[in-house]
Amino acid sequence: MCGIIGYAGGGNAAAAIYKGLLNLEYRGYDSAGLAVMENGKCRVVKSCGRVEKLNASLQFLSGNTGIGHTRWATHGKPSNSNAHPHTYGKVTIVHNGIIENYAELKSKLLAEGDVFSSDTDSEVLAHLIDKFYDGNLLSAVVKCADMLKGSYALLCMREGKDEIVAAKYRSPVILGYGEGCNYCSSDLPALAGNCGRVCVLEDGDFAEVTASYIRICDRTGKEISREILPNLAEPAELSAGGFPHYMLKELWEAPATVKNTVKLFESCKTSALAALSGAERIILTGCGTAYHAALAGKRYIEEFCGIPCEAEYAGELRYKTTPECGKTALIAVTQSGETADTVEAARLFKSLGAKVTAVTNSPHSAITRLSDAVVRVAAGTEVCVAATKSYSGQIAALYLIAALLKGDDGEMTKKVEKAPDLILNALQQVDIYTLAEMCSNSRGVYFLGRDIDYAVALEGSLKLKEVSYLPGSGYPAGELKHGTLALIDEKTLSVFIITDEKLAAKSSGAVEQVLARRGKVAVLTNIDGVRGAFENRAEIITLPECDKFLSPLVSAAALQLLAYRTAVIMGRDPDKPRNLAKSVTVE
Ligand code: G6P
Repeated sequence: MCGIIGYAGGGNAAAAIYKGLLNLEYRGYDSAGLAVMENGKCRVVKSCGRVEKLNASLQFLSGNTGIGHTRWATHGKPSNSNAHPHTYGKVTIVHNGIIENYAELKSKLLAEGDVFSSDTDSEVLAHLIDKFYDGNLLSAVVKCADMLKGSYALLCMREGKDEIVAAKYRSPVILGYGEGCNYCSSDLPALAGNCGRVCVLEDGDFAEVTASYIRICDRTGKEISREILPNLAEPAELSAGGFPHYMLKELWEAPATVKNTVKLFESCKTSALAALSGAERIILTGCGTAYHAALAGKRYIEEFCGIPCEAEYAGELRYKTTPECGKTALIAVTQSGETADTVEAARLFKSLGAKVTAVTNSPHSAITRLSDAVVRVAAGTEVCVAATKSYSGQIAALYLIAALLKGDDGEMTKKVEKAPDLILNALQQVDIYTLAEMCSNSRGVYFLGRDIDYAVALEGSLKLKEVSYLPGSGYPAGELKHGTLALIDEKTLSVFIITDEKLAAKSSGAVEQVLARRGKVAVLTNIDGVRGAFENRAEIITLPECDKFLSPLVSAAALQLLAYRTAVIMGRDPDKPRNLAKSVTVE
């Protein structure tokens, strides 16, 4: 996380960097800053809070080369002094990643008499590069990189020259080739509309970027070539298109996402089949919402293909006893394709001989470059930090993968093709306002379901937590009586998801247990009997009827809407929740 951008060209660097930072803000938004080289001197402006706070300073900056940063704090609280860029001596840097051995490096520098102006891990980079400089900035950056443990996407300038040096290890750096200017960035959105061609740096790469050239090299300074790709990123929409928030706009885009994901799947089938067929065990992994989609994917593959499956948080999977990988395949689910834990889990499994399939929304991401097969989610840009439409796309993609492995004759695909209309029905018909009020007045909100409804309960709970900051959790409905019931009283709300006829009676029993303890209850269901049983005793949300395994698409639509409405009632900013970032590139 954190977004970095560099610009070297004939135009106003501050304006170009500012525009780029606005498009990178989803990577972090607790503070921002930029530095431009003006007549050989580096001028830095920083601000705590959102990128737009830099706007007022832009008119005072006139250089043609510069670097910028939008921050998600890892070391040191959000503050002006901890905001990047960091300067030491004549060197100014911006950094995304974590320098794991910064404390050791910092204490050596302190012993040498250096004075630090921030609590960040990143500031050591400016100190080291300044010390190592002996006439060549690139070799100073290489010497610094040699000392680092951790991850870095680093951009650096030194007074006296309109040049940026970039270094990349385990955090993304993309170079952009423009007309009379060149860019470096954490991600494609910042380059959309600015440059026709891009190049993705590999771990261990360095680059010198000026207005007239980009030179990529290895640590010895030897020039290396990397594939130059057309820049497919579409300029970010400047507004939420008439919607009050991106979250609302994007959750309404779920039907189109599913439709387009089904279309794109045709072109992914062959490689997915090659990577997954013959597997005796499939592990699905991801973080946050993507992990919840993986849980549903596990059920699909087990149910339809009979292949033993596990779903595991990527951050846990990486540190389990070295897995047996003989006939194991990994499916890595990630919207951004850059989530550090997911990428590293995939890298580990690949190194152990497992075939890796990525289910991702990002065609040029780290995960796509290391995977054997890529199944594309066609969500387009998702601006809101909380995932909505990308979850729907992931569910559709995983269902299609299961159908493919089963050797489906088209029946299952037809079912997914009908899903966009069902999601639309859910969004149009569900009346969520009363329930959102109930949430906003609750001390805690618990989401409960069984089997596939449990996977959705976890996602419903995460969504509400992310955007409303209300405490709560998702549980299997059967587990309620084993602990969570102790939390229930008239100030708590329990939201049950009941879409499986076979398990409806069991889940209904859990509803009764909550009602018996005066807990408030809501039931999201498409089963008449369940609706009838709780009509006047609970808030009922009627979902469209649909196939049990595709029900996450309709129940998640309702739960995303619930989270959104609750956030708005509570006066939160659903698009940029506190403390979070959309792309989490640190471990
Ligand atoms: C962050 C975001 C979540 C997202 C998770 C995984 O925590 O705030 O919305 O689900 O990362 O992201 P990925 O890009 O790997 O799907």
